[in-house]
Amino acid sequence: MKIFTFDPGEAASEFQARGYVHVPRGVSPSLLSYASEQQMRFEQEADPSSQRFRERDFVLPDAETTLEELFDAVATVCGLDRSRMTLAESQLKGYPAGTNAQPALHKDRFASEIAVGIPLRAAPESRFVVYPDQHLEPNPFVSAAMWHRSLDPSQTPQVLFDGVQPVELDVQPGDAVIFRGARAYHGRTHAAGATVLYFKLNALRLDPVAADPSTRRGRENSLLLVDRLRDEEWLTAVAELSPRLTEVRRHYTRDGWQEVLLASVHGERDFRLTELGFRMVRALRGAMRVEQLLREVDIADAQWGHAISELRRMVRFGAIHLVAPVAPSR
Ligand SMILES: [Fe+2]
Repeated sequence: MKIFTFDPGEAASEFQARGYVHVPRGVSPSLLSYASEQQMRFEQEADPSSQRFRERDFVLPDAETTLEELFDAVATVCGLDRSRMTLAESQLKGYPAGTNAQPALHKDRFASEIAVGIPLRAAPESRFVVYPDQHLEPNPFVSAAMWHRSLDPSQTPQVLFDGVQPVELDVQPGDAVIFRGARAYHGRTHAAGATVLYFKLNALRLDPVAADPSTRRGRENSLLLVDRLRDEEWLTAVAELSPRLTEVRRHYTRDGWQEVLLASVHGERDFRLTELGFRMVRALRGAMRVEQLLREVDIADAQWGHAISELRRMVRFGAIHLVAPVAPSR
């Protein structure tokens, strides 16, 4: 199903110059009517007493082909590496009555390198506001709230933008707005009553919530392989970081404040990482043969068996994917 009606090549120069693109009627009628059907179902099922944002996963039509078009378009518009494009969110958001008319500006989580907003139902007064060219350091955390809590009081957006006018857009149903979600401060004013379809994407291979079908496939493939590979076959296998691995933390226990490393895989329990495991995590760039990885972390050949069992553990816990089309010998 066609998503956009505009030429991504033309929108690219606008994105580069302004840091965002707003394309009136940029969304195809077929996607709009498909999304509106899901929206109506979503509204019928919603709890009218809830004052919180109502969110539902948006199920892409013909997921694989639609995603290809979305990746092609966004990579072209935003100048990103097409081969690393990853979907990190595909969601319908309903803003109920009582939604704050002037919410605090925020930056989306790190995986929302690019956000695509498509209103489905208008709220007449609503405006999308964005600061597309100031204070663009990315939110490196897994939520907008964590970024906000990390700020020095003198660095909050209220202080930074005091007296500075934002770009204010009247984005109508069927329009598309594309902007740097994790970098540019943004928000939606007077949004009560609106419903918006959001796609969040990145060229970072990050997908905490497994919105991209390839993330789930990668996990299933890894679990299949991890039990089949013999030690010597591991060297020819290819590994990459799981798109769901969101962070590694140094953690201090109450037992004498001893330091341990913890890895967080979204949707799973945290697990303890060894220093060797962390060295492998840091060394993994893109998809890499395990043999090359072990050479890069510079451990003695005699330790390879130990490193492989650590890798095996990280695959089982979901922090690393095995991506090679390795043909297990049995
Ligand atoms: Fe946002």
